[in-house]
Amino acid sequence: MKIAIVGAGHVGGTLARRWSQLGHDVVLGQRDPSTEKARTQAASLGVAATTSEAAVQSAQMVLLATPGDAAIAAARACGPLGDRILVDATNPLKPQLDGLDHPGGLSGAQQIAQALPGARIVKAFNTVGFGIMAQPIRDSRKSVLFISGDDAEANQRVSALAADTGFEPVYLGDLSASRMQEEHALLWIHMAIKAGYGQDFIFSLCRGPA
Ligand SMILES: NC(=O)c1ccc[n+]([C@@H]2O[C@H](COP(=O)([O-])OP(=O)(O)OC[C@H]3O[C@@H](n4cnc5c(N)ncnc54)[C@H](OP(=O)(O)O)[C@@H]3O)[C@@H](O)[C@H]2O)c1
Repeated sequence: MKIAIVGAGHVGGTLARRWSQLGHDVVLGQRDPSTEKARTQAASLGVAATTSEAAVQSAQMVLLATPGDAAIAAARACGPLGDRILVDATNPLKPQLDGLDHPGGLSGAQQIAQALPGARIVKAFNTVGFGIMAQPIRDSRKSVLFISGDDAEANQRVSALAADTGFEPVYLGDLSASRMQEEHALLWIHMAIKAGYGQDFIFSLCRGPA
């Protein structure tokens, strides 16, 4: 699958590398692909890079992995999404990483949905640290990856990509569940940074008897 990655930092860069290794065709969407920094970044990841709009127009799926406060502007800069799936990995974190910016009770993903009416948005890849994205299986257990969205086919395709990446996808429901995913990200950050668990732990799902 051709995947455009908008925001190629820790998360976008890690997933660019991993998805390329898995055989996906990855292209970075950069604000200014002509800069030395942008060219070095693409070269080090071994993927193509162009503007966000050109990358998105060439792809079937888009990963949005910018800082939360840049998410709407970056998504708008992608141009018309058509039927492309926008995977929102962002978290609208407050500067001290001690809360979320949820005006009116809307999650970051819901705010993006409001800004881009009709877009096929799936919330995913926001609840684990980027190191886990490189290797989601620890001690023979798969990290869960929570997924939500309003479009059933889009949810299925992102779940398949998550499974391909090595995660256990856990579908939570429509995009209103993204609020809980963003809160879960906050819990992960709290555990990693403030509660001393480091960045190498996972949550795995143990189902009871059917
Ligand atoms: N770090 C994690 O472990 C983790 C895990 C799950 C989710 N998240 C979430 O994922 C998002 C990215 O986190 P990160 O740690 O990868 O951040 P990061 O390393 O700071 O990378 C952010 C990237 O977004 C780019 N960017 C910023 N504004 C942009 C815009 N308007 N258009 C296009 N690109 C833009 C930056 O480019 P420049 O370098 O040119 O500024 C940078 O490449 C955040 O919302 C975060 O909460 C992070």
